Amino acid sequence: AFDNDTIIVVLGASGDLAKKKTFPALFNLFRLGLLPKTTHIIGYARTKMDRDTFAEKVTGHLKNVDDDKGKQDVDSFLKICQYISGQYDEDESFQNLNKEMERIESEKMKHDAPSRLFYMALPPNVFTVVAKGLKKNCYSDKANNRIVIEKPFGKDLESSREMIGALKGLWKEEETFRIDHYLGKEMVKNLLIMRFGNPFIDAGLNNKLVDNVQITFKEPFGTEGRGGYFDEFGIIRDIQQNHLSQVLSLLAMERPKSFSAEDIRDEKVRVLKAVPAIQEKDVLIGQYTAANGKPGYKDDDTVPKDSNCPTFAAMALYVNNERWKGVPFILKAGKALDEAKVVIRVQFKDTPQGLFKDIPRNELVIRIQPDEAVYLKMNSKKPGLEMATLPADLDLTYKERFSEVRIPEAYEALILDALNGDHSNFVRDDELDVSWAIFTPLLHAIDAGKIKNEPYEYGSRGPAALNDFIARYGYQRTNESYEWPTTNVK
Ligand code: BG6
Repeated sequence: AFDNDTIIVVLGASGDLAKKKTFPALFNLFRLGLLPKTTHIIGYARTKMDRDTFAEKVTGHLKNVDDDKGKQDVDSFLKICQYISGQYDEDESFQNLNKEMERIESEKMKHDAPSRLFYMALPPNVFTVVAKGLKKNCYSDKANNRIVIEKPFGKDLESSREMIGALKGLWKEEETFRIDHYLGKEMVKNLLIMRFGNPFIDAGLNNKLVDNVQITFKEPFGTEGRGGYFDEFGIIRDIQQNHLSQVLSLLAMERPKSFSAEDIRDEKVRVLKAVPAIQEKDVLIGQYTAANGKPGYKDDDTVPKDSNCPTFAAMALYVNNERWKGVPFILKAGKALDEAKVVIRVQFKDTPQGLFKDIPRNELVIRIQPDEAVYLKMNSKKPGLEMATLPADLDLTYKERFSEVRIPEAYEALILDALNGDHSNFVRDDELDVSWAIFTPLLHAIDAGKIKNEPYEYGSRGPAALNDFIARYGYQRTNESYEWPTTNVK
């Protein structure tokens, strides 16, 4: 643990994100001894809560805490946590928070200038006013101050610019950490190493060898309980514009000069600038309907009955640079599908004909979750006396190869980075701008009802038109008899 005393304020402490992600991540870091030696955590929200109710919010989603050691760890963690209720739009509330921080700093911390990290687990309508209130009333002149914010960063190019602009006057870019939690995932972080640490892999990633790329996000549950929020955004703003375009930029970018945050993000911005806005003809959207005892999207009372909000979307985009010109990147994301899976699939071109007939294409597959893996589908000689081919694979399944290693949660990695002041895995303002530019015309067309949703059943693979849609961009489904097992653990 590093030695600068730190106060972490979790704003929105009574909300879902704080409960499910922020507090569990802080707890795990605490347990692993990775928080600064003297850390104090303050939960802040509007709700009035007594100590027990707050303790329940903090501990409700912790894992591996049922044995004695676990219980002890929880007790010690709760000792560094406290709760303060206050408004989001009142100086007085923030002044109260500030007084409490000053008290803690003088009573419990030995350094003159403890760091302050403000984690905003808040709905977007209060982002700006809270950022203002914090800057005005809780900014320490002596120490470093950081602000962590969560998407949505606007709804389109214009509103994102507005939001960035409003925050910019208050918090400097180096003080601002915009979370896209996909950037904290192990396999997403691995993309740079896999590509640039293995010349033979990166050398294959270009339009001479690659036929098409798919980046797929599938979730087996719908928007039950958050339909009201979701309806304003839809799957493209929820997943493609941020998580999948981050994955795309790391997969497609050129080699950065170094691993420094700015060098990496410069390259990500450069590659996204080469992507023209997605065209309406290259899009398929869908909305799930009731099936298998599960409710349809519109059965949620908070969703308007005439909603055209997509809960599924597939789209093809192109990277118009020397490396990738002509290769379709298909971004697919959907809720209420048949399985949970996030995967990158790079499908290579056909083997030159002549020697072989109907030999499957090579594929480089990176499974982000669940069961992290990288595997290369390749053709091999069928073992035996026959001169025949067989699809096989080079397989790096993490559970097998790194069975002893605990893979950290994305939020753990990111909070640690923010505490360390490392911006590499956070979204820079100009990254947001370029990615919104790619999606905005399409989003406006959908909002205006110009593109209609195809229905698909809860628990299915998505709209019926999906297979044809993907095939249009060149994807060839590998021989049905070849099934990659989901888990390869013996
Ligand atoms: C969030 C989306 O950003 O990512 C959610 O708002 C989605 O709709 C979630 O469920 C998926 O994250 P993960 O880490 O479970 O893949």
